[in-house]
Amino acid sequence: MRVAVFSTKGYDRTFLDRANEAHQHELVYFDARLTAETAPLAQDFPAVCAFVNDRLDHEVLQILHQGGTRMIALRSAGFNHVDLPEAEALGMTVGRVPAYSPHAVAEHAVALVLSLNRMTFRAYNRVREGNFSLDGLIGFDLHGKTVGVIGTGKIGLIFAEIMHGFGCRILASDPHPSADAKDFVEYVPLERLYAESDIISLHCPLTPETDHLIDDQAIAQMKDGVMLINTGRGRVVDTRAVIEGLKRGKIGHLGLDVYEEEEKLFFQDLSQRVINDDLFMRLITFHNVLITGHQAFFTAEALTNIAETTLTNITAYEGGEGTLHQVTVQHMA
Ligand code: NAI
Repeated sequence: MRVAVFSTKGYDRTFLDRANEAHQHELVYFDARLTAETAPLAQDFPAVCAFVNDRLDHEVLQILHQGGTRMIALRSAGFNHVDLPEAEALGMTVGRVPAYSPHAVAEHAVALVLSLNRMTFRAYNRVREGNFSLDGLIGFDLHGKTVGVIGTGKIGLIFAEIMHGFGCRILASDPHPSADAKDFVEYVPLERLYAESDIISLHCPLTPETDHLIDDQAIAQMKDGVMLINTGRGRVVDTRAVIEGLKRGKIGHLGLDVYEEEEKLFFQDLSQRVINDDLFMRLITFHNVLITGHQAFFTAEALTNIAETTLTNITAYEGGEGTLHQVTVQHMA
């Protein structure tokens, strides 16, 4: 099948080309992000392949549909960037990669916890400059601390398991507690999780309920000096509220792999450009904030799984071998 692949980088091409040896689809790569302006590039492509910051709203889906596209293959687990009711109304099939490496994301969340706690990013720079002072690098033992996990799906449970391995107590909040959760995961109301956790990590999807879940009110209920980690979706956190929390010292450490306005920033080299996002620029001025640019998924294993599942979805849609991991409006509930 002819597939218009948007938002592609060199590494996407490498892994997709390798996986495509078993499928033989005609992959046409576009560097551009999928938007209303770039959607006409997919004219006459029956399938479009998109990533997390591609826009698949009402307008884009209409353009794609008019151009003959009937299949959307997401290279992501999250589908909050797709207007699913519209896709269904247009008779378009949406495939996704439900799990490519939950370990990759959970391990990155742990990397943020460890780096922030022991300030390894500051230590690295100091040592390179011959500054061996320890002032400002004081951390805390993870052993014995309480970790709050919001969202105990595939990623949240692995994160909980790793943190339990450090000797942490695990509290969790999820409207659908998992049957796979180990005994050490204690489900509690969100208010209790906020009140008792030294570290809070977000692993829920972005939904109307989780949009700005972490706002002024939520932060006010947290422990003084709490460490907040977000590898879920940017909009789960109200950036303005966390900046206020950081300024007051209420939030002691903030680790982000996602940011609510990331689509204008992430996955690009903007080092020669002026960044006009004042909230983001304020965030990076704090010594106790560590931001990575949506790289939690970025391991060789995950890229291999993403490429293989994406192409299998397209093959299955065509009636070939394999399972189509379709996402429908029911998944939004
Ligand atoms: P999953 O679907 O296995 O688990 C999500 C869990 O969140 C479910 O148990 C669900 O019941 C729960 N949940 C839903 N609403 C909630 C709420 N209001 N409060 C608490 N929990 C709630 O998803 P998975 O694979 O664990 O991924 C979680 C999220 O991580 C994805 O939705 C995606 O946004 C994000 N992600 C980020 C990546 C990155 O590179 N930074 C890569 C992959 C996923």
